[in-house]
Amino acid sequence: MERAQETGNMGDRTGTKTRSGSDELIFFVNGKKIVEKNADPEMTLLTYLRRKLGLTGTKLGCAEGGCGACTVMLSRYQTHTKQLLHYAINACLAPLCSLHLVAVTTVEGIGSVARKLHPVQERIAKAHGSQCGFCTPGIVMSMYALLRNNPTPKMADMEEAFQGNLCRCTGYRPILEGYKTFTVEATSLFNPAEFAPFDPTQEVIFPPELMTLSKDRKPHSLCFHGERMTWLQPDSLDEFLNLKWKHPDARVVVGNTEVGVEVKFKNMVYPVILAPTFIPELSAVTHTENGIVFGAACTLSHMAVVLRQAVESLPPHKTEVFLAVLEQLRWFAGVQIRNVAAVGGNIMTASPISDLNPVFMAAGCKLTLVDKDGSREVQMDDGFFTGYRRTALRPQQILLSIHIPYSKKTQFVSAYKQSPRREDDISIVTAAMSVTFTPGTDVVENLRLSFGGMAPTTVLAKKTANRLIGRPWGEELLEEACNSMAEEMSLDPSVPGGMVTYRRTLTLSLFYKFYLTVLQKLRLQGLKVAEVTSDCLSATEVYHPETPSSVQIYQAVAKGQNQDDVVGRPIMHLSAMKQATGEAVYCDDVPLYKNELYLSLITSSKAHARILSIDTSGAERCPGVVCFLFADDIPGSNTAGSLKFDETVLADGEVTCVGHIIGAVVAKTQLQAQRAAKAVRIEYEERQPVITIQEAIATQSFYQPIRTIQKGDLELGFKHADHILEGEMHIGGQEHFYLETNVTLAVPRGEDGEMELFVSTQAPTHTQSLVAMALGVPANRVVVRVKRMGGGFGGKESRTTLLSTVVAVAANKLKRPVRCMLDRDEDMLITGGRHPFYGKYKVGFLNSGRVVALDVTYYGNAGNSMDLSQAIVERALFHMENSYRVPNIRGRGFLCRTNLPSNTAFRGFGGPQGMMVAESWMTDVAQSLGKSPEEVRRLNLYMKGDSTPFNQVLDQITLDRCWDECMSRSGYQQRRIAIDLYNRQNRWTKRGIAVVPTKFGISFTALFLNQAGALVHIYTDGSVLLTHGGTEMGQGLHTKMVQVASRVLGIPSSKIHISETSTNTVPNTSATAASASSDLNGAALKNACEILLKRLEPFKAKNPNGTWEDWVKAAYFDRVSLSANGFYKTPNIGYDFETNSGRAFSYFSYGVACSEVEIDCLTGSHKNLSTTIVMDVGNSLNPAIDIGQVEGAFMQGLGLFTLEELHYSPQGVLLTRGPGSYKIPAFGDIPTQLTVSLLRDAPNYKAIFASKAVGEPPLFLASSVFYAIKDAISAARAESGITGPFRLDSPASAERIRNACSDRFTKLCPLAEAGTFIPWSVQV
Ligand SMILES: Cc1cc2nc3c(=O)[nH]c(=O)nc-3n(C[C@H](O)[C@H](O)[C@H](O)COP(=O)(O)OP(=O)(O)OC[C@H]3O[C@@H](n4cnc5c(N)ncnc54)[C@H](O)[C@@H]3O)c2cc1C
Ligand code: FES
Ligand code: FES
Repeated sequence: MERAQETGNMGDRTGTKTRSGSDELIFFVNGKKIVEKNADPEMTLLTYLRRKLGLTGTKLGCAEGGCGACTVMLSRYQTHTKQLLHYAINACLAPLCSLHLVAVTTVEGIGSVARKLHPVQERIAKAHGSQCGFCTPGIVMSMYALLRNNPTPKMADMEEAFQGNLCRCTGYRPILEGYKTFTVEATSLFNPAEFAPFDPTQEVIFPPELMTLSKDRKPHSLCFHGERMTWLQPDSLDEFLNLKWKHPDARVVVGNTEVGVEVKFKNMVYPVILAPTFIPELSAVTHTENGIVFGAACTLSHMAVVLRQAVESLPPHKTEVFLAVLEQLRWFAGVQIRNVAAVGGNIMTASPISDLNPVFMAAGCKLTLVDKDGSREVQMDDGFFTGYRRTALRPQQILLSIHIPYSKKTQFVSAYKQSPRREDDISIVTAAMSVTFTPGTDVVENLRLSFGGMAPTTVLAKKTANRLIGRPWGEELLEEACNSMAEEMSLDPSVPGGMVTYRRTLTLSLFYKFYLTVLQKLRLQGLKVAEVTSDCLSATEVYHPETPSSVQIYQAVAKGQNQDDVVGRPIMHLSAMKQATGEAVYCDDVPLYKNELYLSLITSSKAHARILSIDTSGAERCPGVVCFLFADDIPGSNTAGSLKFDETVLADGEVTCVGHIIGAVVAKTQLQAQRAAKAVRIEYEERQPVITIQEAIATQSFYQPIRTIQKGDLELGFKHADHILEGEMHIGGQEHFYLETNVTLAVPRGEDGEMELFVSTQAPTHTQSLVAMALGVPANRVVVRVKRMGGGFGGKESRTTLLSTVVAVAANKLKRPVRCMLDRDEDMLITGGRHPFYGKYKVGFLNSGRVVALDVTYYGNAGNSMDLSQAIVERALFHMENSYRVPNIRGRGFLCRTNLPSNTAFRGFGGPQGMMVAESWMTDVAQSLGKSPEEVRRLNLYMKGDSTPFNQVLDQITLDRCWDECMSRSGYQQRRIAIDLYNRQNRWTKRGIAVVPTKFGISFTALFLNQAGALVHIYTDGSVLLTHGGTEMGQGLHTKMVQVASRVLGIPSSKIHISETSTNTVPNTSATAASASSDLNGAALKNACEILLKRLEPFKAKNPNGTWEDWVKAAYFDRVSLSANGFYKTPNIGYDFETNSGRAFSYFSYGVACSEVEIDCLTGSHKNLSTTIVMDVGNSLNPAIDIGQVEGAFMQGLGLFTLEELHYSPQGVLLTRGPGSYKIPAFGDIPTQLTVSLLRDAPNYKAIFASKAVGEPPLFLASSVFYAIKDAISAARAESGITGPFRLDSPASAERIRNACSDRFTKLCPLAEAGTFIPWSVQV
């Protein structure tokens, strides 16, 4: 209250109009004028679109600018350049108040299914580029904005446009292929006749009224008041400086990409915001005699344009600094961020991992600082950054501009950024180096080495630089530089961010790259310096992505198949068009109920503790709060869980993980509920937590049972072996990162305790049971409805009930609808992920490479409850030999009970971890024998008639066919030869290749789950409504089910519809999981359709020339039921661990992949050069969907094995809680060449229409990339004389790759001794 008054007065004094309220904010959305009289400075454009305008096409995926789901296009008329600008932005970070006189275009504004699709929408749908569709509107809008600026883009432009967009389902390839049709490189792959033509002249025009308003705009400051914040938009520099003088603590906001994140995730409150967008001086670009001056509010995109123009027009020696800045900008965030983020924002944030500050510092840039009393120029050096996120600026000052100088004739500048992922990622280490030589010599006159990520601020390696001044550029200088830098750029072993050895090594490795680059340039200038030998040249190359290409091969349907029979045809996902236009309705898109409330969870900040007290008094005072919920408020049972009921809905006195749900706050709005939840104070009595697998082993903290599968005679096997070796491996966990987080809307029905829930879940029945238990009502009062999910991947199989039960309890208590969609950070914190695994093995083998004995032990980090962990560890055991025959074998599986959020199902369900360890011992066997791993794998591959360790005979095996086809399609032999040659010719980059098979068992391992139901209604107009137990999460299940029904009923698919999955239509369903949903639900639907067909038969016989509608009508009038239930249970399965007998699986899916990679031994980065996959999916029901599953699973596996790393503190706090710190594969991570082939002529008579399950099996094939990386590392180690097996844990991150490539630089940065320090993060 006081604060609002204060800012109001301040406005009057400084001439900024405030009146008693706010100014009018005028902007346009999809051509419609909006006049907002109460613009809230805390509201983002995304919230406004979704909640106020009901435009739910724009999605919320992360709220931190990291996923692109919220991408919209802004258009603005720039008066001083008379230019109309169109640019993509993230609506989740755009403050509503920044939109004055801006036109916003959302996905709804460019086309719709009802009206007409825009070609950008149509092509992504038709190219199969939309699976769950949650990312699709954002990708559509990124492409649309690109085309508005450049109707004939190149592929490279498109790839750049997508740097800020993520998709977790498709694997990106189909999106790029679909949109390639817009580029100059368009190929004949797609028939242009299949698409509506693209005519850029037909685009929606910039609103004429807005043009007039913009042109006629008189100098006019703006002021908007909110509850806690005032937004001031001054119109002149003087006014801006006066305001800053009066309000030194005011935040200057340009792009809000830093401040927005601070407010949302760090709970910062800034009562006064100063937005200098209207001030020309801050956006000006001035060319001077010795450089270019950029106003501090210049966006990074604009800066890049200006620098590129300068590079084209100036002599090369003048543009070394500009090129270095451009190189950093290439990998700086995504386009949506660069379009709004300002250069001044990057400098003033003073982040130690800023990408631009090192270049500015190395180049000696000058900054102009101003306050109302005048300006001063300062050099950007180590005096400017005074501490972590602090600068020498006085609070009343602002940064006016930065002067970036031309380089000198004898100056060379390079910049480097090393991050876990290349695209849109923050740096681990970022560096810029500038050297100036005494003219005509190689003697160093000036040297600046600037690093980010090595201290709390950007730093200069001054001591090292000073030592090198006056020295010639040669080997001695290099030696001295490395020794000195290793000392100067040291890090505390406990430093935030960890990776201490890696970061230190990087400083040396990057300097070495710079050294070689400069040597080359000096030679080009004719100086007599040492030659860069050809084997070192690749170390100087700057990475530029190559445009990917792909091939998909599948079997066409038999000639003569009826046109109406769509089984086997690559038909589009039935919702794809709606998904591309934003019309597809997800759970949080359900319109707000009039009396609806919002819920926010209260979670534990301790891993293991007793709750001493909960104080809600502060939270009660927060505006909008309606009620709190704790365990005592649960009317029914507080117990919860999956197979075992070992959890609570709300914590009961004890918490067992960080993120454990203790209670909830219900308030009028989301923001109010979240603020109140944060204001709840909880006192704990802490207990010793168990966080890691190693801690669990040490304390014997295991859940029971400990499973064993054993076959043959282990002792004898080892006795007969020529060699025995032992090894171990850790496989990190994985976050599901479905683009749509967990969400539930619970609506009490007002009578008999009835409750309707809209939930994004794979398990409606399980949700129904737990909600009924919590409410203390029978299950028949609870209806769970699932229209579609924005991705699931197993993450919504059991853990969704954590939220849905609490929301239902709240709705029941208040008798009002209650909604909650978790924020991304909450979802990551609370809901668990893929189990981290540790595997230990002893393998016995013959000289030939044949494996004769294996003893393997798995430890899975289950977390604080059983959930599905037992079945997951069992599946790891069922896959412990992957695809290899091992006659004498024992596998044991331990479930580690730890204080992490319970880990859960994730595509592959333990299988990938089981097989990953298998490939580790297989590689060890080959390496220890000096044989190629492919030779040893092929030798041990299962053949027809072999039986598994669990005594299942492999009858219809296609492994050998997949293997041989993969070997030939990939050109393995030629590649191997070329790789060996490449590796001989290159010291610092190495290539590697690996071929990996997979065999994946299909069936739920819990027998009772292998059942499904379906309900089919035929209406009297002949239309058919299908309902079955499966849920749609993007995998195309509903599409396949319509195909199945269409074939059985013999009617076109256009007559068939699926509306949703609901517990009141098909009851007692299994979760949509285990890849088995098409098999199970397809068979149940077939059963129902056949029953109906039988009922229609007499009417067909009576009227053979009649139509479907005639028969249906006749049956109806004859009082025949046109509704039928179908049921299916998988026959002949059931396995018993005690006796190691019975059939564990109905059948197996097989596949083989060959991948080739290139690693940069100095930085640990790698490129995915090529992947060839051959997958047996039986007779594909829909090859387009199946290829989508193969590619999507492969890319998810690629993330698991090479990129995605969850970091936990030693106290069990998840440190990676959003796309900013947790990196899933992006567009740039797809292999440059990707071939996917579905095995021909391989019908599988154990599933519907001879098809096979495909959802999970291909995921493991991504391990071929991991083992190709391992192969490349082996080549690098050989250069240092190290051969033989070595341990490489998963993921093969840049850090692990670099550390494993042992060389002269790594030796200078040894690991600190374990146990002598507390690490920032631990391997869980
Ligand atoms: C998804 C995402 C990706 C990112 N990727 C990168 C990356 O790759 N590399 C990187 O270095 N950074 C990255 N960032 C950080 C951020 O985008 C940059 O620092 C950006 O340049 C900030 O500019 P802005 O205009 O958005 O700043 P704002 O958020 O508007 O402001 C940032 C800070 O600067 C101050 N400030 C701004 N202008 C002035 C001025 N003229 N005078 C005084 N103070 C001022 C503000 O008061 C505020 O404290 C990323 C951020 C996000 C959200
Ligand atoms: S929701 Fe805006 S970028 Fe993710
Ligand atoms: S289709 Fe892209 S996230 Fe699901």
